[in-house]
Amino acid sequence: MSRKILVTSALPYANGPLHLGHLLESIQTDIWVRYQKLRGNDCAYLCADDAHGTAIMLTAEKLGITPEEQIARVKAEHERDLAGFLVQFDNYYSTHSPENRELSELIYNRLDANGHIERRDITQLFDPERELFLADRYIKGSCPKCKAEDQYGDNCEACGATYTPAELINPRSAISGATPIEKESTHYFFKLAEFTEMLRSWTRSDSLQPQIANKLNEWLDAGLHSWDISRDAPYFGFEIPNAPGKYFYVWLDAPIGYMASCANWCAKTDRNFDDYWGKDSSAELYHFIGKDIINFHGLFWPAMLDSAGFRQPTAIYAHGFLTVNGKKMSKSRGTFIKAETYLQHLPAEYLRYYFAAKLSGAVDDIDLNLEDFTKRVNSDLVGKLVNIASRSAKFVHKGNDGKTSSALDNPALWEETIALSDTLAGYFENREYGKAVREIMSQADACNEYFDQREPWKLAKQEGGAAEAAAVASQCLNIFRVLVTYLTPVLPELSKQAAAFLNCDIAWSGSFKPLLNHPITPFKAMISRVDPDKVAAMVDASAASTPAPNAQIENAKAPAKNATKKKEDSGIADTIEFPDFAKVDLRVAEIIAANAVEGADKLLQLTLSLGELGERNVFAGIKSAYQAEELVGKMTVMVANLSPRKMRFGVSEGMVLAAGPGGGDIWLLSPDSGAKPGMKIQ
Ligand code: MSP
Ligand code: ZN
Repeated sequence: MSRKILVTSALPYANGPLHLGHLLESIQTDIWVRYQKLRGNDCAYLCADDAHGTAIMLTAEKLGITPEEQIARVKAEHERDLAGFLVQFDNYYSTHSPENRELSELIYNRLDANGHIERRDITQLFDPERELFLADRYIKGSCPKCKAEDQYGDNCEACGATYTPAELINPRSAISGATPIEKESTHYFFKLAEFTEMLRSWTRSDSLQPQIANKLNEWLDAGLHSWDISRDAPYFGFEIPNAPGKYFYVWLDAPIGYMASCANWCAKTDRNFDDYWGKDSSAELYHFIGKDIINFHGLFWPAMLDSAGFRQPTAIYAHGFLTVNGKKMSKSRGTFIKAETYLQHLPAEYLRYYFAAKLSGAVDDIDLNLEDFTKRVNSDLVGKLVNIASRSAKFVHKGNDGKTSSALDNPALWEETIALSDTLAGYFENREYGKAVREIMSQADACNEYFDQREPWKLAKQEGGAAEAAAVASQCLNIFRVLVTYLTPVLPELSKQAAAFLNCDIAWSGSFKPLLNHPITPFKAMISRVDPDKVAAMVDASAASTPAPNAQIENAKAPAKNATKKKEDSGIADTIEFPDFAKVDLRVAEIIAANAVEGADKLLQLTLSLGELGERNVFAGIKSAYQAEELVGKMTVMVANLSPRKMRFGVSEGMVLAAGPGGGDIWLLSPDSGAKPGMKIQ
């Protein structure tokens, strides 16, 4: 019987572009959903943009647009990028929607009616200039313990001390620079502790990953506190019913956004919302999330659903974080790769395949090693899988009139291939995609070995051997078809190409009857090798591209993550000591030649003169703002002792200093008149 399944992935913030970390989640989810659909289950994949919060309000303000305009822009970009990666939603909505307002009010009113909301006055720091309450991460000052300057929020990056932001010495608002004052205001709290028993039994349900269950138990053992669900105006979000000037905290209405997207989809497709969310729903409900938001999905969300009289999720499936080349994604290393940048250089399915090969059902981090990525895609997809089709096709065309043979040449190998289906089904169901991919590739190896042993190229040359060569090739094409079927959730485009080539449907069960006496079409290349130059160009472009706006300033998540992210989100780098600064040798430089770089749309090649100290060749990502010609003769400032960096187009021997967000807005720094090439900046 077909299962009725609802699947979500976490709602990306509408405050910045998607990067490959987000895509890890969308691709993991999409593969699972496509697998379910391939098996004939009634499965829907719903998502939305998470559109509320202070950060979005401030970004819109900075850009001089309304928050509504900002979230509409970002949503269009998100949808474009996700479609580019072949992520197929049944509905992609927004938390800033009438359905979400209605459901948030409904749920809140039920929580309140059940006595699960309490009101309490709390004192918080307030920016008297901007007239808004300051979340911890919007306050900076000196550490009360070690006196390190410019510490954000409630912990010191220099000495590790923790404190309340009010204890900072000389605290300032990171928004206006004003000295914050303490101000009292009434906040609304959700009494989470009352759900301790209910949450205990939820952690015992065996559908949770052990890592998640352990984490939830730790929190339960430590004791649950009431959760502050209100924010004071000005805030971009929904006003709380009967509480003028009070808004739902973004994390209250964000998960309700799953329901809102579902309500919107139900209305469009004539389905019944209660079938999915009602207390006695028989549908399955899964939330795919990253490990940083387990507390929201494992504690607050089930408790809210419980109080409001809705069903519980069947399970939450958490994944780890994406690292690139073994490290946290970094803008300066060019490994903070935006979805858009990837797609400008490489096909989506390469990444889908690589992520699949690395994913498991556990919460472990996943590394995208770019060298390994290139090798893996080339060896598996090109060298093993598609190779089967490309080397076989001609023998069928020449030896049997473009039709597969009337009988299988090696029934045992065929049986072995289709017998994998149960094992693979289990792997997909349990999100063990890495295991599935390994199994499939080892069967591709077996098929290629069979081909090599039977040597159809020799058979074809023998008197009357063409038919036998065609039989070997037909056998291989049949196996190819089954392997592609198994990989359809991962490689939907390749699967379509294979279906066109083999002139047949690709469906999990239907594929398991061999194609005999079946006409195929001429083979056309399906996938090309990964060009390492394209990978390098993607890294160069990522290094040159503008930083994403701070996505998560206010939308604070788990404390551990805040602690490690604070500095980055402030936009100001960690404090350094003078000796560190003195290591940087900044010099006045004269641009004596400037040229466009063929094949690089962001770079100019500059020849810089340091006077008596010689000349330097530097590649600078400033082409979008300057014509090469206009730069010649200009004076600027360069980092003269940066170790030379090999780029795709040559070696860059330093860096010029420029300011601005990017695009047309880049300004090269230049010294006042009188400065001579080679002079040290001090
Ligand atoms: N808006 C919240 C989610 C609300 S769900 C009701 C949010 N947004 S986010 O844009 O910061 O992240 C969206 C998802 O992407 C989260 O599940 C998060 O864990 C995931 N990832 C963000 N960066 C990631 C990596 N570097 N690696 C893997 N997943 C990452 O959280
Ligand atoms: Zn300190």
